[in-house]
Amino acid sequence: MKKVRTAIFPVAGLGTRFLPATKASPKEMLIVGDMPLIQHAVVEAMEAGIERFIFITSQGKTAIEDHFDSNQLLENVLQERSKIEDLAKVRQTQLEPGQAIFIRQQHPLGLGHAVWCARHLIQDEPFALLLADDLILSQTPCTKQLVQAYENNGPGNYTAVMEVAAEKVSRYGILDIADQKNGVISARSVVEKPDPETSPSRTAIVGRYILDPRVFNHINTQKVGIGQEIQLTDAFNPMIAQNIPFSGVLFEGERFDCGTKEGWLEANIAYAYNDPELQPSLLKAITKYHS
Ligand code: UTP
Repeated sequence: MKKVRTAIFPVAGLGTRFLPATKASPKEMLIVGDMPLIQHAVVEAMEAGIERFIFITSQGKTAIEDHFDSNQLLENVLQERSKIEDLAKVRQTQLEPGQAIFIRQQHPLGLGHAVWCARHLIQDEPFALLLADDLILSQTPCTKQLVQAYENNGPGNYTAVMEVAAEKVSRYGILDIADQKNGVISARSVVEKPDPETSPSRTAIVGRYILDPRVFNHINTQKVGIGQEIQLTDAFNPMIAQNIPFSGVLFEGERFDCGTKEGWLEANIAYAYNDPELQPSLLKAITKYHS
């Protein structure tokens, strides 16, 4: 079995649901707790054994590149002032030379297109795909749970899935379920953003995947799908037809949709609540405004 060593982080979207915050700074740099969303995703990938980090970026996203680079001026000042803990925090964000690769997606043509931009860098190995605006709090990092499912079940496409309310299925890729064993659902097909009346289930894809490298043969850059974008989901059904399994992993943990203001706010509340230092201040503030 080939090891999952590489992860792709698509960060080239426009983040229109978060305007005006995302006019000049990337959505993926929004802070949850004490880290930007993209760093939460990178840490999660590292904890799953990922060694190579490919970022699909676009204009106006250089803050992401800078965040994972060294900042010599800042480091020198912290060193001179003996701020050792702060220095360690700054150095922790630095990826090693050659570990991080940045590719430009010139137009935001959709997730399928963003992944396709990395086609020359992925050889014949499975790879992880993490959408940083989906933040997942869990005991075992969600990507690690997917890697374990891949190692237990063999090659194919894997994605994190969760049950959603019937009225929300039209926001997600939804699985048509063939079978389920030990929290791993085998899908007959995948439907992008179905109507609630015709949806095959309420089992929805969230932003964590382990993908088979053959996916690049199936991302059709000529065919725009739902929302006038090149959909990644469109690649999955032809692969299932070629007996490349598609599995949904019912992950342990809580997912926050930080691409929306509500989800981002809730993620910050969850972080503060789980932090013994911040919890008293959070509860005090809520009481103040809610009394
Ligand atoms: P979203 O569907 O949340 O789109 O992308 P968006 O453009 O970021 O946000 P809205 O809908 O306008 O508010 C999910 C992830 O895929 C990336 C985004 O950066 C985000 O991390 N993405 C999306 C790309 O890299 N390229 C694209 O063309 C579209």
